[in-house]
Amino acid sequence: MANEILVLGATGKTGKRVAERLQKKGIPVRAGSRQGNPPFDWEKAENWATVLSGIKKVYITYYPDFVVPGALEKIQQFVDAAKNTGVQQLVFLSGRGEKEAEEAEKIVINSGLHWTIVRSSWFMQNFSEFFFLDNILAGYFVVPKPKALEPFVDLDDLADVVVEALTDDKHNRKIYELTGPELLSFKDTTSIISEAINSPIVYEEVDMDAYVNTLRDYQIPEDIIGLMQYLFTEVLDGRNESIKNDIEDVLGRKSTSFREYVVKATQTGVWNIQNGQR
Ligand SMILES: NC(=O)c1ccc[n+]([C@@H]2O[C@H](COP(=O)([O-])OP(=O)(O)OC[C@H]3O[C@@H](n4cnc5c(N)ncnc54)[C@H](OP(=O)(O)O)[C@@H]3O)[C@@H](O)[C@H]2O)c1
Repeated sequence: MANEILVLGATGKTGKRVAERLQKKGIPVRAGSRQGNPPFDWEKAENWATVLSGIKKVYITYYPDFVVPGALEKIQQFVDAAKNTGVQQLVFLSGRGEKEAEEAEKIVINSGLHWTIVRSSWFMQNFSEFFFLDNILAGYFVVPKPKALEPFVDLDDLADVVVEALTDDKHNRKIYELTGPELLSFKDTTSIISEAINSPIVYEEVDMDAYVNTLRDYQIPEDIIGLMQYLFTEVLDGRNESIKNDIEDVLGRKSTSFREYVVKATQTGVWNIQNGQR
């Protein structure tokens, strides 16, 4: 279909929001997912030309993370394949303050295609759609002692920025750093959620070894444990302890606060108590 946009991670946290928004605008979306038709798999480069066939614009999200060995090679290979099949524009989801993510950005920037980089802070939706959801549901939030505050970003804001970038060429060659409007600790986020759901959540800070042992007790996969170690020791060291106005500059409205996000997430019922358990 002409003007169809390929959205990688179309069943994931940012991709599904981007796909929904494009479809609402009447723009056809090809879902980049292992369940898509044709399926897209980062491990099956031999199928990428089929997935990219006829596509001019791609939203690239990499999974699981740029720090995983081989990530840069796969991104380079994908960008080369996109160029070879006639793609003209890439919008790339990156991680703020992550050295490896910036290496991946360079591949996109040097591709010769039109590009926009969307560098994101930690997602607010990690508390309702990802890793920290289990902590909230258990009523016990344990993290390694964080060294810094984080300007968590709402994924509805992020998706709005990505859609702007995909649909207006004025965002070509721009690097956007997305943050929420405030710097928060994990203690702050836990207490805001606890207050909203009207239920206590015990908050505990432990050293990294104890944290890793706890994750292993809960049988969290080793690659996710490694990622959490990296994020808490290297990324959460103060380098991202600042607020940026890029969301407001692109969208012409304020970014969503953590409290506003919590109201939305509470309404979905994701933190509801069921069968005596949250
Ligand atoms: N979490 C954060 O706070 C944060 C902050 C900044 C940047 N980021 C970046 O966001 C990116 C996505 O992270 P996320 O945790 O939010 O993931 P997510 O979007 O929830 O990821 C899952 C998506 O990846 C797809 N996927 C999984 N394995 C795949 C494979 N082998 N081949 C193709 N697709 C695959 C899944 O699709 P199917 O299962 O349908 O195939 C699903 O659509 C990462 O690059 C991360 O660095 C995250």
